[in-house]
Amino acid sequence: MQVDVLLGLQWGDEGKGKIVDVLAPEYDLIARFQGGPNAGHTLVVDGKKIVLHTIPSGIMHPDKQTLIGSGVVIDPLTLAEEVNELKQRGISVEGRLKMAKKAHLILPTHRMLDAASEAAKGNEKIGSTLRGIGPAYMDKTGRNGLRVGDIFNADFENRYHKLKEKHLDLLRLYPVELNIDDFEKGWMNSIEALRQLEAVDGVYYVQDLLKQGCKILAEGAQGSMLDIDFGTYPYVTSSNTVTAGVLTGLGLAPQQIGEVIGISKAYCTRVGSGPFPTELNDDIGNQLRNAGHEFGATTGRPRRCGWIDLPALQYAIMINGVTRLALTKIDVLDEFDEINACVAYHIGSEESKSIPYDMGAEKIIPILEEYPGWKTQLNTIKSIHDFPVNLERYLKFIESRLEVPVKYLSTGPAREDLVLI
Ligand code: GDP
Ligand code: IMO
Ligand code: MG
Repeated sequence: MQVDVLLGLQWGDEGKGKIVDVLAPEYDLIARFQGGPNAGHTLVVDGKKIVLHTIPSGIMHPDKQTLIGSGVVIDPLTLAEEVNELKQRGISVEGRLKMAKKAHLILPTHRMLDAASEAAKGNEKIGSTLRGIGPAYMDKTGRNGLRVGDIFNADFENRYHKLKEKHLDLLRLYPVELNIDDFEKGWMNSIEALRQLEAVDGVYYVQDLLKQGCKILAEGAQGSMLDIDFGTYPYVTSSNTVTAGVLTGLGLAPQQIGEVIGISKAYCTRVGSGPFPTELNDDIGNQLRNAGHEFGATTGRPRRCGWIDLPALQYAIMINGVTRLALTKIDVLDEFDEINACVAYHIGSEESKSIPYDMGAEKIIPILEEYPGWKTQLNTIKSIHDFPVNLERYLKFIESRLEVPVKYLSTGPAREDLVLI
């Protein structure tokens, strides 16, 4: 068996949580492979909204297994809160949520380092979610990190205090308060809660399931343009958000990757700083933000909005090996008379369809192609046979440019709001 992958092709918040929740019935296991609680994946089930940060979006289906893979960084506090929130909704994670022992832990001082480092950057700040993601991955690659497997060892507290002291030494370089006692107490309590969850060897767990013929879906966080290597560096996150990250984040071989489902909104958003060639700082941008309720699921920040960027999508499709597209939030465009798509960039005097080395350093003017809107409420349409002609034209145009079929069209936040193509 192979592992199917579902990941974002833009700058995050493409609607990954919703699509994973819809596709979950086809799978036995849903596994997160990277990122941490910087992610906010929104699911709307039976009219009720839930935002997941670390737990895979398959958890709402009581017969599904979920795994937090070794490529993820876990904040025990956030995870314990998520487990409790699910419990309050009558959803038990018992026997259905596993953590890879090799997943790294986010310490309270990682969060402080994140905040101090961002504050010191001034105008050049990344716009991090301040969840301690960057510092936790730095400790992982710096070979200082603490992992889930370590919490079961007798010397865990010692190791924790050693690493904390190291962080405090670093923090003394910044003008910040160093009192973490309350925060630390809560964190230590949540470590105890973590010990009650099931920690596994992620590699053998996934490989054994594959041998048994189980179907696995790998759930991405963030988006390809936020990838540490291939995104708009330095305005990126600290992990590999692309398909390659599935191999290192779950312990798979390349030939074990099956379908790669790439998700894009029918327009584009970005939260945090960094280049965004199609951004609209005008009424149309505001209309997209209001119609799409574009406010961060993790931080509540207003998202920057703009037209869909096809060169950026072509790039993301290329590096991910996308085999199917899911186009989300198409209903947000229902009221628009005209819909635009960026088909190429003007960079200086050149026209280009490539992503430049440093998108932020270049003056990029998007070349737009305009399409008439469909002016129809798509949310009520459940079959492709009922699509308005202008929507069909628009979808054909997107597919011809991206050379990948659109297989899922999402017309609203709820599970039911999906048309299979
Ligand atoms: P994720 O991080 O990729 O899972 O996406 P988020 O949950 O951060 O943001 C997507 C937002 O759009 C959430 O509020 C979803 O409930 C909502 N959403 C998802 N799909 C659709 C859709 O097709 N139409 C509309 N109107 N909202 C959607
Ligand atoms: P989901 O999974 C949108 C952005 C932050 C910031 C940059 C670095 O919900 O799509 P970090 O906290 O990783 O240091 O932030 O990345 N970012 C996201 N933007 N959706 C996300 O996750 C994001 N996770 C991080 O806004 O610009
Ligand atoms: Mg999100």
